[in-house]
Amino acid sequence: MEKYLGTGRDINTHTELAGPTNVFGHGGILKLTSVSACSQVKQAVHTALECGYRHFDCAAAYENEKEVGEALALWVGPGKALQREEVFVTSKLWNTKHDPQDVEEACRTSLADLGLSYLELYLMHWPIAFQRGKELMPRKEDGSICYSDTHYRDTWTAMESLVDRGLVKAIGLSNFNARQTDDISMARHKPIVNQVECHPYLSQADLLSHCRSVGVCVTAYSPLGSGDRPWASANEPSLLADPRLGAIAQRYKKTPAQVILQWHIQRGVVCIPKSVTPSRIQQNLNVFDFSLSEEDTKSIESFNHNKRFIAPTVEVSHQVSLAPKNNSELLLPPEPKYLDVYIPKHELL
Ligand code: A2P
Repeated sequence: MEKYLGTGRDINTHTELAGPTNVFGHGGILKLTSVSACSQVKQAVHTALECGYRHFDCAAAYENEKEVGEALALWVGPGKALQREEVFVTSKLWNTKHDPQDVEEACRTSLADLGLSYLELYLMHWPIAFQRGKELMPRKEDGSICYSDTHYRDTWTAMESLVDRGLVKAIGLSNFNARQTDDISMARHKPIVNQVECHPYLSQADLLSHCRSVGVCVTAYSPLGSGDRPWASANEPSLLADPRLGAIAQRYKKTPAQVILQWHIQRGVVCIPKSVTPSRIQQNLNVFDFSLSEEDTKSIESFNHNKRFIAPTVEVSHQVSLAPKNNSELLLPPEPKYLDVYIPKHELL
């Protein structure tokens, strides 16, 4: 049975990961997004490993897998501090690599960049295909994205071959809504994870219960509300600065970030906070010595107002429609004949 490193300290099997209640996975997982400068990424991986993190959430589209690999190489391998089996590395297939012919090469590129011979987990980054090629965001002259008709079910079949060939231990989804998740759930190799935006302002309660009912574990990206997204406007609410959260944190003598992480843990969601700051990397792991009362858990649940920070902007026939409120409403993938969907790069990654 493959192992899933949920925290810096515990190793959970996939069964536990997908189980209804017994899910760990939070501060022990570091997300390494493209927001992080490459030099920061190496230092962050180093600091995280030192603190006890063992799970790294990567993606080809973050364009920093080489740096992650360089940092891992100093720590992992024969004669090093950690054996390969002691770390858990996730990567993701980018939208331009959905054509079944491109899937294996894309995975092998991530493996080469990360300096690994296999991945614990490989996710389809989005249920949406872009035109094949080297460009991360292929665009037409008018600036709109060049989509491709490849269906995510065909991409999934190609991803299943990666498991058969031993290149990845398990495969999963990211940014899939409930219907799309169901489309895949009859597959030969079932998805073990659906990684979606999730935090107290976007609690994803429906998607969470649906995924749970079909044995798919939900991983929360932007679990702290993604305060460093470059497109945040000045008047947008900051989750970490929410005074209601501050009051709860004060009572537990914890920080707002630690309270949010504990909230995710208690509702059975794996969360992958991103940080390049050593003190925060450490702080995000120090969440195992307290638990929230039922009242406080419910109170945080009530913050939900379906606020999506990483919202794709959807254009239908050049009319901008409202960004989807939650994953059940995601309009992806588009039906190219009817929809012209424009998703700015910074909102996709
Ligand atoms: P930094 O990377 O500079 O440490 P999310 O995981 O929701 O996307 O949030 C990432 C943002 O939250 C980053 O700006 C990160 O900053 C910040 N962050 C991570 N951990 C903490 C923490 N414990 N306290 C405050 N901010 C944090």
